[in-house]
Amino acid sequence: LNLRITQNMTHTISPTLYLHFLSTPVKLLSIVGRYGYMWEDINHSGDGGLYAELLQNRALQGVIPNTGAALQGWQSINGAFLTVTAGTSGVSSALPNSLQVSIPKTAKGPIRFANTGYWGINVQAGWTYTGSLYVKSPGYCGSVTVALQSASGTIYDSVTLSNVKDTYQKLTFILSPTNSAPDHNNLFTVTVDGAAAAGQTLYFGMFSLFPPTFRGRENGLRMDLAQALFDTSPKLWRFPGGNNLEGQTWEQRWKWNETIGPLENRPGRVGDWGYPNTDGLGLMEYLDWIEDLEAVPILGVWAGVSIGNYSDLPDWPIVPQDQLQPYIDDVINEIHFITDPENTSEWAALRAEYGHPAPYNLTYIEVGNEDQFAPDSYQAYRWQMFVDGINASFPHLSLQFLATSPPSLPLDPPYLKIDFHQYSTPGWFINNSYMFDTYPRNGTQWFMGEYAVTGTETGCELGSPSCGRLLYPTLEGACAEAAFMTGMERNSDVVFASAYAPSLQNVNSYQWTPDIITFSARSVAKSVSYYNQQLFATNLGTHVLATIPEPSPSTAPLYWVASHHATNQLVFLKVVNTGSADLVGNLFFDFPVIGGFGTAQQLSAGLYPTPGVYNISNTLETPDVITPVASSFGIVDSSEFNYTFPQSSITVMTFAVD
Ligand code: AHR
Repeated sequence: LNLRITQNMTHTISPTLYLHFLSTPVKLLSIVGRYGYMWEDINHSGDGGLYAELLQNRALQGVIPNTGAALQGWQSINGAFLTVTAGTSGVSSALPNSLQVSIPKTAKGPIRFANTGYWGINVQAGWTYTGSLYVKSPGYCGSVTVALQSASGTIYDSVTLSNVKDTYQKLTFILSPTNSAPDHNNLFTVTVDGAAAAGQTLYFGMFSLFPPTFRGRENGLRMDLAQALFDTSPKLWRFPGGNNLEGQTWEQRWKWNETIGPLENRPGRVGDWGYPNTDGLGLMEYLDWIEDLEAVPILGVWAGVSIGNYSDLPDWPIVPQDQLQPYIDDVINEIHFITDPENTSEWAALRAEYGHPAPYNLTYIEVGNEDQFAPDSYQAYRWQMFVDGINASFPHLSLQFLATSPPSLPLDPPYLKIDFHQYSTPGWFINNSYMFDTYPRNGTQWFMGEYAVTGTETGCELGSPSCGRLLYPTLEGACAEAAFMTGMERNSDVVFASAYAPSLQNVNSYQWTPDIITFSARSVAKSVSYYNQQLFATNLGTHVLATIPEPSPSTAPLYWVASHHATNQLVFLKVVNTGSADLVGNLFFDFPVIGGFGTAQQLSAGLYPTPGVYNISNTLETPDVITPVASSFGIVDSSEFNYTFPQSSITVMTFAVD
């Protein structure tokens, strides 16, 4: 059975596109569903983002006591004096800091302090907010009242908690607003009766306030953000970094064992992106989320290098060979914790105690991050010691390892998968959409582990907005990414997977643009690149179909890939037009399309097709400028039709076939 599609262009570029359906060569997609995300806490993507905790700096982790910065997120109302202290015993050994609240001797009436949330709190009628705090006072044994209120004082709900004692007690509460706040300019407040508490000191620690979470998981994820990510059907989740795996120093690296179990046991850490990480979103929360996504984890493991300013460090930044083994042992313990069968080890017992008796799936281990910056030691011993050391402990798991060194660097054992990162211009992605057509078929596979169009000017891809750095993904950038993705999908025998990065951006505090989703405490903006990822990932066959011709520089500015879903009997044709003119294609099929029609989903400038619009973006203020538009179209004789691919557009067509 040969299926043929021909596309004749109305312009000088007139490629023809033939699909040879189920003829050779036909490629099997290398993993089922190959699009996903690289994840780390950057831009408050985790704390203040996907992690649903509403209170910022809830346990005063990773801050220096007695400094103004330690009070991030906290503010006094009506004269209470706030400071962060380590001078009293903390909630736990992992959480030594307390919020010290001194009530003036002359206090009368309500004395209050507030948490501002992560730049606001989303107060919704009908939501149940589950909260807790630790409190103690050497001289005050009255009550404290907690509330959700607007910044101007409207109380949405409050609860009074009695019985403050002289040692830390955990008090729990539920807040159930019956009215929604008009905006996110809201606070979580704690109030004491000034007259009763005058002259006294209260200490607080480990606050928490959760709204309803995605799938109702305790200590879970923010519903709208999780749903947005879920809706792109990611099939891989690379975590926990990125730079945020590495630490500014060895000691500050991401430590898996400090991210599990009761929140009181998690010290948090100084993250690599300039703010403390609570580690409430820890190893098991990630793995649970990956299970919810039905995705596969790509677990990044610390490989002996930190990213700090090396010259300021007392130690050489790369762990010497004779000191590396403890770090490998640490990863081995982590993998035991993740994968040991139920009831077979102390690690499996601990995992069960923390709520997940069954082992998690784990196949892919990524050794380090961007070790092109430290290739010599990677080649000399780090890669080998991690791969051989881990493999020796888990011969039954058939683990697969991803290298992060330069692709040209020979490694022993040879790498079979390599993670490569590219942040660049639209031109780079368009020009390289063919790069995998000539990738050697030698058993190695490529992981596009981080990529995005980040700027418009070569040489300034990660520079400032004044030299073309994007603040939000643009239509032009998304089209370039899409053109590149057609090349990845077409060559999915050698492109193992890909991950757009970074993922989320809290618009109030961020370190990196552009990002695929931008959000505030209450709103979410899905970018054009988001919709592009969604279109590609949710319209994916099981096999790539060869086309004649395949896209090449002579068929630019059209880029395409076709795939066939063997179970659903659907053919998907993704066509990207990166040019500035509409192009009409005459498509001929060699097979009958059932029903004599196809459907299309399209991203384009739509209502805004004027010159210069290719830089348009969805933003928090205008989130829906570019969204997929669905349509259907007839096919003459069940095998032929014309289709106009608009300037700067991404079109995904679906056809039912026998
Ligand atoms: O995605 C942002 C950063 O870019 C990652 O942390 C790092 O791996 C890359 O350099």
